[in-house]
Amino acid sequence: MPVITNIQDLKHIYERRVPRMFFDYAESGSWTEQTFRDNSSDFEDIRLRQRVAVDMTGRTTASQMIGQDVTMPVALAPVGLTGMQHADGEIKAAKAAEAFGVPFTLSTMSINSIEEVAENTTAPFWFQLYTMKDQDYVSRLIQRAKDAKCSALVITLDLQILGQRHKDLKNGLSAPPKLTPRTIANLMTKWTWGIEMLGAKRRNFGNIVGHVDNITDTRSLGTWTAEQFDPSLDWGKVEKLMDQWGGKVILKGILDSEDAKMAAKLGADAIVVSNHGGRQLDGALSSIRVLPEIMDAVGNDIEVHLDSGIRSGQDVLKALALGAKGTFIGRAFVYGLGAMGQKGVTTALEIIQKELDTTMALCGERNVSDLGRHNLLVPKDFGGSWTD
Ligand SMILES: Cc1cc2nc3c(=O)[nH]c(=O)nc-3n(C[C@H](O)[C@H](O)[C@H](O)COP(=O)(O)O)c2cc1C
Repeated sequence: MPVITNIQDLKHIYERRVPRMFFDYAESGSWTEQTFRDNSSDFEDIRLRQRVAVDMTGRTTASQMIGQDVTMPVALAPVGLTGMQHADGEIKAAKAAEAFGVPFTLSTMSINSIEEVAENTTAPFWFQLYTMKDQDYVSRLIQRAKDAKCSALVITLDLQILGQRHKDLKNGLSAPPKLTPRTIANLMTKWTWGIEMLGAKRRNFGNIVGHVDNITDTRSLGTWTAEQFDPSLDWGKVEKLMDQWGGKVILKGILDSEDAKMAAKLGADAIVVSNHGGRQLDGALSSIRVLPEIMDAVGNDIEVHLDSGIRSGQDVLKALALGAKGTFIGRAFVYGLGAMGQKGVTTALEIIQKELDTTMALCGERNVSDLGRHNLLVPKDFGGSWTD
């Protein structure tokens, strides 16, 4: 096993171990992938201020997200089909998050179901909701998340319709994979993945199959998903969902200060500044680039989180120093999971925490809560000068 020192190392192992179709599914953005690329490269435009001769003992990355204690303000983002990246992937990622002391968010489009994750963990996790046209199904899903004692509902607002990822269409993405000659040839080179997957609790969409009438196979599921996401979702419907849930709510997928103001007005507990990891509106600005404007608009009214493009503790630090109270990682934990299962997710979290802690120290800070604009060198025109 090679020495693993950063998230990219995990990505290399992940790429070797997991069938191409699922690697491509994670490692793609929509259309030209401009936003997907910008998400990471824009972090590099921000530089850090080195401070010296500061007592660096007694440092802590501990903080809170929506009032919940966290070892570091880095939650695992909802990622569909996580259980195809590694057998029982959602259960393993949730266990790693629990042991580390950070929140795990289960996607509506997970492989392991809400109940399976709840049975295999003790810490409450967050549940991410995609809204569907079938209101009864959505109500039942919300009730299932309540029964599983989920401690927050994360409502995703930026995927009423799906942004196109070319590779998913070309690969015929499905769960479990359809056995075409090309898929079989690729699977034969991923035998560890295959053997582990044979022992998995589940290989289809656990929150859907068996919970929706007439869904028995993945072919009808694919059709159902395409037909069922609710394109009419608007702020009125969001408000109703929040009432129905009655607990803590995080609104995910905000990239515009007007939308951030609406979310604050509705009384959500937090927003996630996010472009879905560059998977939806290609050509949109990166999350880190819009964060300062959103902080100016709602920073005093609502807790602000950020995701999209985070690959290191330095990236986390930059988001926190620009005002975010928390961050989410998607691909960074998927690389770890695909590479080494639960242990790989733990490794990803350890890498990010170590980077965050050391970078914080070299910036002359001892506590993540003290990070601020004073730690950064932000290019004058970072937000960009755009005309409407
Ligand atoms: C493979 C993959 C699947 C995803 N599935 C979902 C999902 O089911 N629900 C959701 O709200 N976001 C989903 N996202 C978006 C993530 O929650 C998160 O916003 C994104 O991964 C952050 O960007 P990063 O991967 O660069 O960290 C997905 C992202 C990836 C990479």
